[in-house]
Amino acid sequence: MGRVESLLFPTRKERVEERRKERSHGDVRDEVFDRATLLSVSRLVTQGFFQEVDFSISTGKEANVFRVSGPKGFAALKVYRVSNAVFRRFPPWALEDLYRTAGPGSFGRLVFAWARREFNALKRCHDSSVPVPRPRVQWRNLLLMDLVGDAEGRAAQPMIRTPLEDPARTLKELEKGVRAMSTRARLVHGDLSPYNVLMHEQHPILIDLGQTLPVEHPQAAGLLLRDATNFARYFRRFGVDCEPQEIYRRMGGRPTP
Ligand SMILES: Nc1ncnc2c1ncn2[C@@H]1O[C@H](COP(=O)(O)OP(=O)(O)OP(=O)(O)O)[C@@H](O)[C@H]1O
Ligand SMILES: [Mg+2]
Repeated sequence: MGRVESLLFPTRKERVEERRKERSHGDVRDEVFDRATLLSVSRLVTQGFFQEVDFSISTGKEANVFRVSGPKGFAALKVYRVSNAVFRRFPPWALEDLYRTAGPGSFGRLVFAWARREFNALKRCHDSSVPVPRPRVQWRNLLLMDLVGDAEGRAAQPMIRTPLEDPARTLKELEKGVRAMSTRARLVHGDLSPYNVLMHEQHPILIDLGQTLPVEHPQAAGLLLRDATNFARYFRRFGVDCEPQEIYRRMGGRPTP
């Protein structure tokens, strides 16, 4: 049996051993590549989306992101954790439509709906020329998208870890991107921060779109204003003269009463 097969189809002895481990570590099911996820990964491989999982780019609370590669070049594979820890972090406005799409039933289905939600938001933004990674496919708790990175496959860093050559210009470009998101894709990110913006050759790319909401949503304006306020604070550190309300307006925010 090959390595992947032995992972996918363990022998009886391994199964017994695994159950023993599961009993001793309650968190075994929190591992990224649980059996079901492994099967989903192998399905995408079989379908030719990629060939190799190269290495982990990021290990987070909700998801792990890996660089993968294949004949179509590099890509980023976001693997959502199928664990209850994630569940508690779904924002209430997203939960409404998650329950609608997932219906009653397993927690896993909610996570799949969450992955689908991010895929749809990425697609809508990409189709409207908002600077986001192009989504390729979503299956269960997997989301495959273009890698934001260089030609050698090195992943771009979040804004928080990138020295900005021209902060004022970066802010302008970021405002333009977010404005395109609100006016053309008609979505508000809902959790935009220097952590969820990657810097690709000094150009901002918006990521982590799971909690986006339509501009018409009653909470959309408040969230956009909150993010604009955080960015105002962030860019002031670099001596950029900016006001939260102005950033909010340039990001396509509607006048607040
Ligand atoms: N398309 C991509 N190309 C390159 N790197 C990426 C891409 N998508 C995500 N990453 C990397 O993975 C990290 C986490 O991605 P993301 O923000 O989408 O996950 P998350 O839901 O915030 O996970 P958590 O909050 O649990 O850390 C990013 O900060 C970035 O470093
Ligand atoms: Mg994030």
